[in-house]
Amino acid sequence: MTERSEGKENGSVPPPPGFVEQANVSDAGIYDEFEENWPGCWERAAELLDWYEGYDEVLNDEDAPFYEWFVDGRLNASYNCVDRHLESGRKNHAALKWVGKLKETRTYTYQDLHREVNEFAAALRDIGVEEDDVVTMYMPMIPELPIAMLACARIGAPHSVVFAGFSADALATRMESADSGFLITCDGYYRRGNAFNQKSQADNAVLRLDNEITTVVVDRLGDELDHVLGEGQYGYDDLIRANAGATVEPVEREAGEALFLMYTSGTTGEPKGVVHGTGGYLSHTAWTSKAVLDIKPDDTYWCSADIGWITGHSYIVYGPLALGATTVMYEGTPDYPDRSRVWEIIERNSVDIFYTAPTAIRAFMKWGSEYPEAHDLSSLRLLGTVGEPINPRAWKWYYKNIGNENCPVVDTWWQTETGGMMVTTLPGVGDMKPGNAGPAVPGVSVEVVDDAGEAVESGEAGYLTVDKPWPGMLRTLHDGDGRYVDEYWRGFSRPDDDKWVYFSGDEARIDDDGYITVLGRVDDVINVSGHRLGTMEVESAIVGVEGIAEAAVVGSDGTETSIYAYAITEDGYDADASLRDEVATAVENGIGGFAQPEEVVFTTQLPKTRSGKIMRRLLEDIANHEPLGDTSALRNPEVVGEIEAIDGEEE
Ligand code: WTA
Repeated sequence: MTERSEGKENGSVPPPPGFVEQANVSDAGIYDEFEENWPGCWERAAELLDWYEGYDEVLNDEDAPFYEWFVDGRLNASYNCVDRHLESGRKNHAALKWVGKLKETRTYTYQDLHREVNEFAAALRDIGVEEDDVVTMYMPMIPELPIAMLACARIGAPHSVVFAGFSADALATRMESADSGFLITCDGYYRRGNAFNQKSQADNAVLRLDNEITTVVVDRLGDELDHVLGEGQYGYDDLIRANAGATVEPVEREAGEALFLMYTSGTTGEPKGVVHGTGGYLSHTAWTSKAVLDIKPDDTYWCSADIGWITGHSYIVYGPLALGATTVMYEGTPDYPDRSRVWEIIERNSVDIFYTAPTAIRAFMKWGSEYPEAHDLSSLRLLGTVGEPINPRAWKWYYKNIGNENCPVVDTWWQTETGGMMVTTLPGVGDMKPGNAGPAVPGVSVEVVDDAGEAVESGEAGYLTVDKPWPGMLRTLHDGDGRYVDEYWRGFSRPDDDKWVYFSGDEARIDDDGYITVLGRVDDVINVSGHRLGTMEVESAIVGVEGIAEAAVVGSDGTETSIYAYAITEDGYDADASLRDEVATAVENGIGGFAQPEEVVFTTQLPKTRSGKIMRRLLEDIANHEPLGDTSALRNPEVVGEIEAIDGEEE
């Protein structure tokens, strides 16, 4: 690396001067400015949107932790992401560039998007969707997914997108919990070159539900749909044709009214239905798209996440479209048909900004720099990462080999619940420190605290908390306000002093400059290659297998994080290959193929504390071949040697 990229003594890297000159935000004064004028500073974000009715108050905290942002303001997210760009003369500007798995491409200008969003919104009304009805979507990365989301937003029907890799069971659980009577899915999609039957998964989910479900099926595979459509099922193209040219007046939504639900994993087996509002969420995502991702209306921007997770909602769909930019959407995987695919897409589309996950970067690094080197990546101006901690080596590889040391790298920490970015450097302002996400976003206040809720010394590990509300925050959990308070606000708040502190579930360190290094989850949530999963969900699928008495799963950090499962068999059952297959099948059926354990280790005991809690940390260390930490709290210390011995044999 050159001297400049090695940076200063403390390993920090200043933003490239060429970038700073043109950055949307380049004045370091923004931090003080936001702090001095809090919460009024967040008007800067709300001003990026068009409101039918201006808000009376930026923040009402009377009923904390149920905060109201932009009180009494009225707006529509579909109008903000589509219509207003037509009015500002950008109707022939590309809104969405879709790259299909089989190398097909489709471009929707803002006018195209407007037309189809309106037609589908009219269709949704035809099939009976009313304001506030929850519409579930179970689709891979095809353009009809964001179109359907925006159509829902237009008529004020919250969407609930379920990642296409989830099983029928997982889909049914989420639909039931959301009391959703509408499902939008597709016939199938291509996975590793083969057609996968998504519709049969969707049908199986519907069979499990008591309610009547109205289903819309998008034709992705190009076959006639008629023969697969049952009662209460409609073909997407038929609905669009029947509503050709229709327009639907966007419904005015109050800032606090729901835009969508997103189910995410928590510490219990039951997924949590995170509810996001309209005004705060859209302000936060639009503002961070501008200030952190540096998106400008003429940019072509690519976020490689899946829309089935929050990153795709906030930074493929809502943020970039609110700003009127071109958002790229890719259906396939990075190594199909070959390992050049990502770089080829960047080159062909002259992508300005690329936002991906550390797991992908580690894979690119492993494949080698010859793939990016063979492509012209000079269109890139900014790089970003999200989803898990990025190790300094991967960060530097990304900075050098993809960004050619000309592009800042923003390492953005946030969560499904936060709606938008919370901790990251501002690329035109702050020095970057590889492996270290950065300070809180201006207007966001985070603190790393100890068990007693006191701020830890710099350099020490503690719990990552947020001690002031922020606009993109979840409104509540669909499963109940009580669960919302219990899950996020119990640990460190002092309600008697009216002090409310949000706990993220993450552990972190803070340095003297206020930069945060995120260390990972401290609760029973694991991150498997960008898929957030609860250990309990996976374990309950495994213990459903006849012959398995108990199970514990942990994440192991290879190039890609994967799941290691430890299981105890019941007496009389053989810990053999067929039982191992049954475990894999149970996880595939209960959650989805993406959650399948890479290893299933059968053992006779699991390491437990004296109070009977499984010591996952220890299992994680074993899976990752790390030196074991303190084992003195173990009730059954002999188990460690046993598991290590089995693990060793299997390799
Ligand atoms: C982790 C994804 C380190 C973290 C947007 C968090 C990160 C969880 C980072 C949320 C980062 C996200 N550095 N860890 N830059 N970004 N995480 O809800 O553990 O799918 O709690 O949202 O991902 O995952 P979720």
